[in-house]
Amino acid sequence: MTRLSALVGTLFFTAALAVPNVTVVPLQTGDCFSWPGHLPSGDRIDMSSYLQLVIDQSDDPAVNGLFATEVAYNWPGGRDTPDGFNFTALAFDLRTSRLFARVAFRCFSGVLYMATTANGTDMPSLSVYKDKRNGFMIESRPELGNGTAGTPWLGYPVEPYQHVDPVTNKTLPGVYLGALNKTTWGFNFNDDGPCGTPFVYEARLQGLPLDPNIDARATYDPWFYGFIKVVTYP
Ligand SMILES: *[C@@H]1O[C@H](CO)[C@@H](O)[C@H](O)[C@H]1NC(C)=O
Ligand SMILES: *[C@@H]1O[C@H](CO)[C@@H](O)[C@H](O)[C@H]1NC(C)=O
Ligand SMILES: *[C@@H]1O[C@H](CO)[C@@H](O)[C@H](O)[C@H]1NC(C)=O
Ligand SMILES: *[C@@H]1O[C@H](CO)[C@@H](O)[C@H](O)[C@H]1NC(C)=O
Ligand SMILES: *[C@@H]1O[C@H](CO)[C@@H](O)[C@H](O)[C@H]1NC(C)=O
Ligand SMILES: *[C@@H]1O[C@H](CO)[C@@H](O)[C@H](O)[C@H]1NC(C)=O
Repeated sequence: MTRLSALVGTLFFTAALAVPNVTVVPLQTGDCFSWPGHLPSGDRIDMSSYLQLVIDQSDDPAVNGLFATEVAYNWPGGRDTPDGFNFTALAFDLRTSRLFARVAFRCFSGVLYMATTANGTDMPSLSVYKDKRNGFMIESRPELGNGTAGTPWLGYPVEPYQHVDPVTNKTLPGVYLGALNKTTWGFNFNDDGPCGTPFVYEARLQGLPLDPNIDARATYDPWFYGFIKVVTYP
């Protein structure tokens, strides 16, 4: 018992790794040129190949390599949404097998969409929910509203970023997902899924300005921090 406690204590108090200190540089937006897998547009359609989102350089290295999946949420009513708020968010599946890691994305005309149709534009796009405490990446349908209090599913569109080493000024490899020049995400373990829903790590973009018109719902501190890397779907 004593020896086990000592062992657990040792493991528990091991110094955590820090997410690397990087300078965040926005990549070109408005087209798909900066996204991985950009396809040369001989046919005038601007798009990328299929993409996936993966946890990268986390301060808990065990979760690096987990892929994004879709999770449906139903939040109860609040000040901004009296009837409640139903949405689908992107969270990270604990299962990395290709049998499960199947959710894919695609850039069309500079916008990152869920990818299951040929032209993508009738699919939801991805945005970061406008709330400092949530910052969830949610599937949004901009055609449904203008992103004000009554239509919170329209957030900040996700954008591609590059990281630069602040000491050497060298551009680091990889394209990272973010918004408003922020690319550090906080991850939280969600174990309250109903039957059949996999346990996931929720992802919240850190450092967003607080929108006074939208209730804060998820006020907990993240379990760990990291980046979300955009990779091509093999
Ligand atoms: C959200 O979903 C629940 C359960 O499916 C439903 O009862 C509720 O009316 C929905 N709310 C909105 C705003 O669509
Ligand atoms: C995309 O495809 C859908 C049908 O899947 C169609 O209704 C829509 O008009 C298309 N959009 C463009 C821009 O081609
Ligand atoms: C956007 O939302 C505001 C407040 O809900 C509303 O007054 C305005 O008409 C909306 N604009 C559009 C273009 O839908
Ligand atoms: C991170 O880099 C910035 C900019 O180069 C620097 O100001 C800051 O002190 C660094 N922070 C840490 C924790 O190294
Ligand atoms: C990095 O680049 C910035 C601006 O481009 C410059 O001010 C700075 O001196 C550079 N630092 C190094 C170590 O090269
Ligand atoms: C993001 O950074 C770029 C320069 O790197 C700057 O031009 C732009 O205004 C910044 N955007 C925001 C929302 O801070």
